[in-house]
Amino acid sequence: MNKYSNELINNFPEYLFNEINQKKIAARHMGKDIIDLGYGNPDLPTHGKVVEKLIETAQLKKNHKYSVSKGIFGLREAISKKYINNYGVDLDPNTNVVNTIGSKEGLTHLLMSVLNPGDKVIVQDPSYPIHHFAPLIARAETLKVSCLDTSDFLTKINDILKKTKIKLLLISFPHNPTTLTVDQIFYDSLIELAEEYGFLIVNDFAYSDVYFEKNKPPSLLASDKNLKHSVELYSLTKGYSMAGWRVGFAVGNSDAVGALTKLKSYIDYGTFQPIQIASTVALNELDDYPFELSTVYKERRDLVQEYLEDLEFIVQESDATMFVWAKLPKRFNKDSLKFSLDILEKSNVAISPGIGFGKFGEGHIRIALVENKQRIRQAMKNIKAAL
Ligand SMILES: Cc1ncc(COP(=O)(O)O)c(C=O)c1O
Repeated sequence: MNKYSNELINNFPEYLFNEINQKKIAARHMGKDIIDLGYGNPDLPTHGKVVEKLIETAQLKKNHKYSVSKGIFGLREAISKKYINNYGVDLDPNTNVVNTIGSKEGLTHLLMSVLNPGDKVIVQDPSYPIHHFAPLIARAETLKVSCLDTSDFLTKINDILKKTKIKLLLISFPHNPTTLTVDQIFYDSLIELAEEYGFLIVNDFAYSDVYFEKNKPPSLLASDKNLKHSVELYSLTKGYSMAGWRVGFAVGNSDAVGALTKLKSYIDYGTFQPIQIASTVALNELDDYPFELSTVYKERRDLVQEYLEDLEFIVQESDATMFVWAKLPKRFNKDSLKFSLDILEKSNVAISPGIGFGKFGEGHIRIALVENKQRIRQAMKNIKAAL
């Protein structure tokens, strides 16, 4: 209990990954070489051109001032071009786009700017933790819908909509942690529901550019021709390996994007201008880089999948993301936290327990593909030896 934090923050549960993180740090202090496949922190480098542009522009005095809260025009224009080229979606850089400090910040402030206290939000479970908490930060209520596969997701949403007035549906495809993807028809159906019942759909599109072969994940916005019901959070974190740069966007419906832009104008002055300029280079000039990085993730995924299947895990087939999601063999009694702690202790490998992503994630583990192939192979050998 913290005497100064408010009720909301006091009531937030202890971050479930903390236990593993603390054990990981303690083991490292003892000199153990922990292979960290727990945290989804990309290990691949940001492209040299982007780094060079940052260095060049950081040396100019004019870039040391406050930037623009909603992002410089060139950056907003670059993301608009990407949307028209990749998805056929026409975004006005002035009304349909706002630059955010990564998709996580964008999502949280978006929800704070469109929700009223008590509004109801449907959230996928399991999910990236902020999806569970951003609605609560906005003082809204969450309705959790299990989503370990997408086959009956629409039916479940439909059932809720028939009984309950909801304000917002929060989804994320390609999905962390389950790696699930959807097609455009799926989004068409969601938009039809949004039209019928009148709610906003927010898609966290953080993994838009991490996909294998030709399976480019579709954009929700492409199903919403007049951008009436949808907002998407786009990010350079994963696709361009720019996690620490904190560059993302909220794009889509102008009322929702406008509300976020207004809130942000009270809160921040935008990120350091050289970061915005360098990010513009990434979007304008490095279309192929995300796919190059994805090829590396795919090789790693194949390696992990092979080991896990050999150990009788059921691995989720996937076309995208930088994770492997797998169901524990029966003998582990669905206890993903215990399993992950045991693995850390016995094999010096950190992984994420499915329960950390929501109650429907229990019985699963997530492995982040964020070490090189040699280290990943070593990790899998260690796990095999420990089981
Ligand atoms: C679904 C999802 N959304 C957002 C993020 C954070 O992205 P950003 O760095 O753009 O805030 C992550 C990072 O793991 C994620 O998995």
